[in-house]
Amino acid sequence: MSKKRGILLSFEGIEGTGKSTQSRCLCNYLKNKGIKYTVLREPGSSALGEQIRDILLYSKGSLSHFAETLLFIAARDQLRRQKIEAALEKKDVVILDRYADATLAYQGYGSGVDLKLISELNKLAMGTAIPDVTILFDIDPKIGLVRSGRNDRFEKRKLAFHERVRQGYLRLAEENPKRIKIINVKEDAACIQDKVREIFLSVLKSKKSR
Ligand code: TYD
Repeated sequence: MSKKRGILLSFEGIEGTGKSTQSRCLCNYLKNKGIKYTVLREPGSSALGEQIRDILLYSKGSLSHFAETLLFIAARDQLRRQKIEAALEKKDVVILDRYADATLAYQGYGSGVDLKLISELNKLAMGTAIPDVTILFDIDPKIGLVRSGRNDRFEKRKLAFHERVRQGYLRLAEENPKRIKIINVKEDAACIQDKVREIFLSVLKSKKSR
């Protein structure tokens, strides 16, 4: 990513890790520091994205794994073109509550859609908007699913699915150690937020020195 653009952070993890809370806390921190930011969620945060989100999370009809994958990718492409690029051009810190790794973890590792194909589609949908850092919030799905307490199409899936998703995320972290930083969610929210800030500040520092 060019020096003149903002910083792109993505937050990932299975259900119930508290990542959305952590993203809100980081936003408050940035606000207090006078750092401009944009926070977006996937799927969603664009008109088309929110419509796709409704289908993906709440549609009663059957949806093949591949159709599901393509819908996530479509929402991503739209969000990147409509919001992410513009925010990075404005030099904002862009916080994404889920991004490309989610499709690899959920549809790839979780549902068996071809990983290479997803990677290719992700490349097209992301363009140059590749995260500077991805924070992976890790939790045992037995605990995560109870904490999350929601009931959408994804949360209704069996524990074994969420375990595959978790292992998929951990594999992605192993393959991308520079970009993906794991935070174990066992500690309390304040300690986790300290780690999130530490990671953010180190990216900011390395970006400034480039
Ligand atoms: P959301 O309400 O945003 O869940 P969370 O707060 O846990 O992020 O719902 C998004 C759901 O969509 C979540 O279960 C993960 C799933 N998902 C995929 O399966 N693939 C993807 O590419 C993305 C972005 C999300």
